[in-house]
Amino acid sequence: MLTYEAAKEILAGCGQEHLLKYYDELNDSERADLLSQISLIDFSVLDNLKEENNFTASRGKFAPLGAVTINDIEKNHEKYSEAGIKAIREGKVAAVLLAGGQGTRLGFDKPKGMFNVGINKELYIFQCLINNLMDVVKEAGEWVPLYIMTSEKNNDDTISFLEEKNYFGYNKEYVRFFVQDMAPSVDYNGRIYMESKSRISISPNGNGGWFSSLVRAGLLSEIKEKGIEWINVFAVDNVLQRIADPLYVGAVICSGLQSGGKVVSKASPDERVGVLCLEDGVPSIVEYYEMTDEMRTLLDENGELAYKYGVILNYLFSVDKLEMILNNKLPIHVVEKKIPYMDENGELIKPDKPNGHKFETLVLDMVHMQDSCLAYEVDRRKEFAPVKNATGVDSVESARELLAENGVEL
Ligand code: UTP
Repeated sequence: MLTYEAAKEILAGCGQEHLLKYYDELNDSERADLLSQISLIDFSVLDNLKEENNFTASRGKFAPLGAVTINDIEKNHEKYSEAGIKAIREGKVAAVLLAGGQGTRLGFDKPKGMFNVGINKELYIFQCLINNLMDVVKEAGEWVPLYIMTSEKNNDDTISFLEEKNYFGYNKEYVRFFVQDMAPSVDYNGRIYMESKSRISISPNGNGGWFSSLVRAGLLSEIKEKGIEWINVFAVDNVLQRIADPLYVGAVICSGLQSGGKVVSKASPDERVGVLCLEDGVPSIVEYYEMTDEMRTLLDENGELAYKYGVILNYLFSVDKLEMILNNKLPIHVVEKKIPYMDENGELIKPDKPNGHKFETLVLDMVHMQDSCLAYEVDRRKEFAPVKNATGVDSVESARELLAENGVEL
């Protein structure tokens, strides 16, 4: 157990002494709790606030990457479908649902998967995803193991909700949960926020840590025992998400490439999505804000956008490669967020606009650790309906419209 003196020293070393400001006012158990939080925090993430550590400054040379297009996929439908279904039947494919985020933009204080997108009936985001996965289970005649990543903040709610709803008909024997790590949140001056006199403001550390958290939870041995070779990682918020999609799995297997990423054609050069491309000859995702005007508008020999394929957070990784890169360090992104905090009067404030930074690693950076990646094009109106915001772009409204367009009863 960390002593008060040791904690003070650690905090002095990184300019965060204020975390102990109320120590004298706390009772014994609150004191122990606070010291334990301090002992668990990796304060080195704060170094990422320094300009010289901003990794975007050190990006390599980008080049466009072509995709297997919707047309190509249609032409090879039978071949891909056969290979994908075979792999699923042989139990070689699992899915990982990234549901550890806090969904601050949506402004819903429960796990995002518990959000009801229905209009005349209940239709929860988790339900949409499970319904989509059930299509594959029915086609393959085999359950797909589903691993759900939660965070300390939403784990209990997620599990009790899915239990209460009987996993929306999914076989719970095939469902596992694991909890991701946390990182501190800071104000614009790099001072770590407090949520109360004894609680430090910490939040999930981004979706990039999913594999290491899964390993730490002891699930890798199970994955290997079951003979799972491919993991389809996907986000909670895309209600049209196809999961363990046999065509996609089959296309990646037939391509002989090491990984896959589902992409959509960008709606316009300025669309704010990350683009799957090459960086120094290996796959990479360039964020929209990292692209120069020239990259954004560059045309290929067919007059189409050269950097055309936006990612939708649906990747296929091989377990072998994931194990090989397990100890590779992912870059840490400093992201602006709305962070609840305790003010000088000891009151908890829930800000309505961003008030500081969180530190996150991102699954998209794992793509850059792959030797190769198949960009697999899908129709955005059929497979991309993210619920990020309450209204406007990528919102509950736009997702409802797309669900209805795809024949889902709301
Ligand atoms: P987002 O980048 O949309 O983040 O997550 P978010 O926290 O859900 O939402 P905002 O930005 O606060 O509004 C993309 C996917 O990654 C998961 C999310 O649950 C979502 O499926 N995620 C994100 C995690 O699993 N852990 C995290 O720490 C962050």
